[in-house]
Amino acid sequence: MSQLVRPVTDLPVQGRRVFLRVDFNVPLTPAGGVADDSRIRASLPTIEYLLRRGARLIIGSHLGRPKGGPTPGMSLEPVGAKLAELIAPLAREVRLTDEPVGDGARKVVSELRDGQVVLLENLRFHPGEEANDDSFARALAAYAEVYVNDAFGTAHRAHASTVGMVRYIQDRGAGFLMLREIEFLSRLLGPVERPYVAVLGGAKVSDKIGVLENLLGRVDVLLLGGAMANTFLQAEGRRVGRSLVQPDKLTLARGFLRRASQSRVEVLLPQDVVVAPSPDSATGRTVAIDAIPDEEMVLDIGPATVQSFAERIRGARTLFWNGPLGVFEKAPFAQGTLGVARAVAECSGLTVVGGGDSAAAVSEAGVADRIRHVSTGGGASLEFIEGRTLPGIAALMAPPEAH
Ligand code: 3PG
Repeated sequence: MSQLVRPVTDLPVQGRRVFLRVDFNVPLTPAGGVADDSRIRASLPTIEYLLRRGARLIIGSHLGRPKGGPTPGMSLEPVGAKLAELIAPLAREVRLTDEPVGDGARKVVSELRDGQVVLLENLRFHPGEEANDDSFARALAAYAEVYVNDAFGTAHRAHASTVGMVRYIQDRGAGFLMLREIEFLSRLLGPVERPYVAVLGGAKVSDKIGVLENLLGRVDVLLLGGAMANTFLQAEGRRVGRSLVQPDKLTLARGFLRRASQSRVEVLLPQDVVVAPSPDSATGRTVAIDAIPDEEMVLDIGPATVQSFAERIRGARTLFWNGPLGVFEKAPFAQGTLGVARAVAECSGLTVVGGGDSAAAVSEAGVADRIRHVSTGGGASLEFIEGRTLPGIAALMAPPEAH
């Protein structure tokens, strides 16, 4: 797919106003600072390239989910400050507009000089962004002569800044992060070296069934953990105590397991688990899969499961992982997820981790730099692996319309 999208290096950017859509939807600290700047750093190669080429840069992003109006605590101000720190001395300053569109923002953009970067205030402060409203899209498009999308994490949203405005700018293409994401995630859907192992965790079968279905015809081994695995365990007739289960997905899970066995895909469910009365319990204890107490719930995979998953993971030539294997944000239930993260780092094949919680887990385990590709997309990477066309990528390929 990436061959059909123009890379930023093919676009005429020298001395031109370039609108760069990034995904700077980053977690903030309670004091309002940037808690994790990975998404900002991930777009630095594109930003630095454009600045070195003499582009006049207008950067747009959303942050959080404001309901279409200015919202305290969701300003991009701390993000702008972090960006300014990261790109100094390439840019003298990052000027933040006080709204995404309007007279004030237009003025700041029109005053843009070489060596300056304009960061538009949170695009979702305007209701036109999520509604993909045409007049908002035109107002954004009027800022620039060139459009670059590096916001892979938002590519599954058909919003004004990812889809609507794109048709109004003829010179459009993808930044380095977007290209890298497309390259690595596409590799998982094409011919791969085998064995091909996928590790899927997370809370709900319903969130992952699209990915499971699309991987069924491709992978050799599926390792399932997280609360999602409880539904599969119950579908197999096991007792799971007070664990989180999706009762309306039991038939789906049963059907999936049957088809997996017909397709000779090996599915491994946990053989031991860590249980406790609640996710807030201070400790958990390991029990065999057929000994889950009625009054307790499964909160992590157990050490024997980690070991058998790790063996498969280390032996893989292609590996995809998405979703935590337990409640890893709580220390007593983090070992399964961290153990899997370490095993993925030890795998010498192509390793790709789908974003969100799994990306957080690999950095917590201190192994992010030993994984070939850690996606910056949560929902976007899942939809990509489901085999869906992401609107933000499709828009880059569509033929341009007249202004
Ligand atoms: C993400 O963090 O997954 C993206 O920034 C998209 O955010 P959204 O789910 O609020 O659209």
